[in-house]
Amino acid sequence: MTARRNCGVLQIEPTDFCNLTCPMCHPQQGFRPNLHGDLLKGYMDGGLFRKILDGIERSNVCVDHLIFQWLGDPSLHPELFEMLRYARRKVSDRFEYFRIDTNAILLSPDRTEQLIDAYLEDPLVPVLMVFSLDAISRETYKKVKGRDYFDVVMANITHFLKRRGELDLDTITLNAEFQFVLQDGNAHEAKDFIDHWDRACAEGRNGVGYNDIMVKRISVGTGGEKQHRSDKLYADTIRGFGIEPFQKPHLELKLWMERAWEEHDDPESTATDLDLGETGVASPNLANA
Ligand SMILES: C[S@@+](CC[C@H](N)C(=O)[O-])C[C@H]1O[C@@H](n2cnc3c(N)ncnc32)[C@H](O)[C@@H]1O
Ligand code: SF4
Repeated sequence: MTARRNCGVLQIEPTDFCNLTCPMCHPQQGFRPNLHGDLLKGYMDGGLFRKILDGIERSNVCVDHLIFQWLGDPSLHPELFEMLRYARRKVSDRFEYFRIDTNAILLSPDRTEQLIDAYLEDPLVPVLMVFSLDAISRETYKKVKGRDYFDVVMANITHFLKRRGELDLDTITLNAEFQFVLQDGNAHEAKDFIDHWDRACAEGRNGVGYNDIMVKRISVGTGGEKQHRSDKLYADTIRGFGIEPFQKPHLELKLWMERAWEEHDDPESTATDLDLGETGVASPNLANA
């Protein structure tokens, strides 16, 4: 496959609705009816989606990867895996891989089968599933995700790993990222989180494909004192646990020692993590940088 690294990312938002209101997530606070200007929250129309993909197919656009995600949770869109299937059929020669970011609450065994069916149409075209988990205990999950779905999410991901491990393929590119946005409520679990997914991916064929853990910095408002405190917490936690990035055959550990958007910080800002910034410049996109 031709390398398309650094060719930019295309982000498509299947829906801006979410089934969580993680306290760190600016756009989803306050149950606002609209996140994009005056447009009410909604679900992307399948016809519009196909039109965009058909346009890309006709053009000479080449992009690093296509992410299904923006301000909501893409898994709420009932046709998510149809969209994935369509995109891979139409433009897999233009994108290095396809990525879905989700809290995994709706990744039930049935939906995992839909995902696997879409993936198996062409197993050489990589799909990266990014699971934003942020906790490895029920109590912490409730605190940082705002609702009591830890058991559901863990069962869904465990099932996903099991089913992926059963696929009768030599090369599996149905990849997984386990994401942890480090913050006050979960910093104490950073090491346990890493150890858990390290063990889970090492078991049997669970480590097939590419897997990584991403320990991310939280983005707080537009910089300022709160951001500096969060950055210090990140650095202190990583150092305190002696966590080092690693690359094992079944799992890679990625850290964010630098914040890519630091140069844009406003040192005077007193914005809090609950301030509702201008949609479109909120942290989640930067979190994907
Ligand atoms: C807005 S969510 C949308 C996709 C999906 N709902 C999810 O959580 O993965 C996209 C990403 O933004 C991250 N995120 C949300 N608020 C953040 C913050 N304040 N700082 C850093 N990352 C944040 C989430 O952890 C997630 O990885
Ligand atoms: S981070 Fe993702 S799961 Fe959490 S509230 Fe925001 S959109 Fe929803």
